[in-house]
Amino acid sequence: MANSIKPISLTPNFIVPEDKRPQLAHISPLASIPIIDLNDHVTSSLLQKISQACEEYGFFQVINHGVPEELCEKVMTAVTQFFELPPEERAEFFTEDLTKQVKLFNYYLKSEGQEKVTMWSELFSHPWHPFDDFTHLLPQNPPLYREAFAEYAKEIGGLMNRLLSLISQGLGLDKGCLRKRIGDNPRLRAQANFYPSCPDPELTLGLAVHTDLNALTVLQQSAGVTGLQVIKDGKWVAVDPIPNAFVINLGDQIQVLSNGRFKSVHHRAVTDKTHPRVSLAMFYGPNTEDVIGPVEDLIDGEHPPVYRSYRYAEFLEKFYSQEGTRRMVKELFELPK
Ligand code: OGA
Ligand code: NI
Repeated sequence: MANSIKPISLTPNFIVPEDKRPQLAHISPLASIPIIDLNDHVTSSLLQKISQACEEYGFFQVINHGVPEELCEKVMTAVTQFFELPPEERAEFFTEDLTKQVKLFNYYLKSEGQEKVTMWSELFSHPWHPFDDFTHLLPQNPPLYREAFAEYAKEIGGLMNRLLSLISQGLGLDKGCLRKRIGDNPRLRAQANFYPSCPDPELTLGLAVHTDLNALTVLQQSAGVTGLQVIKDGKWVAVDPIPNAFVINLGDQIQVLSNGRFKSVHHRAVTDKTHPRVSLAMFYGPNTEDVIGPVEDLIDGEHPPVYRSYRYAEFLEKFYSQEGTRRMVKELFELPK
């Protein structure tokens, strides 16, 4: 079992079919996603930048976000040390049951008529709030892990609220609107992604193309290694790590709440030949009982509802019933045109 969580050699089960390979030579070299300075006052110019980024990219990086640098480093150290433990020391977390609260797992790419392909990564996922409810389930080793997460979760909670307020205002809504619509009891999960260095990055994927199913993601990536790529105008654009920045992306639920105006964009992670890479995604989404649908204030004669309303549990059920990583879920909730 331990072997299945740590890819060591490039065996055939990791090799992506030819038409799905990353074609790294074709990445737009100059393109990048917008960078937004959160130190700026909330002015119409800041809101304009946010709404433009959300409409055109679904992704942006934030700088001067107020989360202390030492804390960001501490949590990345904790996560990295966890992945560096000998496989048998973290095997207790390994599971193929993706509905588990705390889980270490691999993703697969499954295309019709083809064998499952294992992604060149190991993912560790658990809730980040309410912290006291699950802290006893988190790793005791490295000793730093629980403490670093408790502190980080608090800071990220504050940042999520600020971002949701800015994104709401960017839609022309009340600043509390999205937060209220996602619900008082959001589903908050963390996912640490570990991408070992890979002998041939052209043959593998770290994470296959997907959109995030939640509402909002705050991602920290380790310095110096690029791996995340997003689709812009049909081309892949690399998201280079910049110091002390977070990558922010919208998930499917904000696309639905905004009635399709703000985008949950396809992205993927590729591997690197020489450097392992670690990233830490903090997800903010509705709870299973919450009902999600386009915000009424965004609907008028010119903008009929694109999606029907649903309980989030229904969305999750559709998500888990689709195999592989490239899940197409929000499309199932579109209304006929
Ligand atoms: C994710 C994700 C990208 C990365 O966790 O959903 O897209 O850079 N991660 O690890
Ligand atoms: Ni993602």
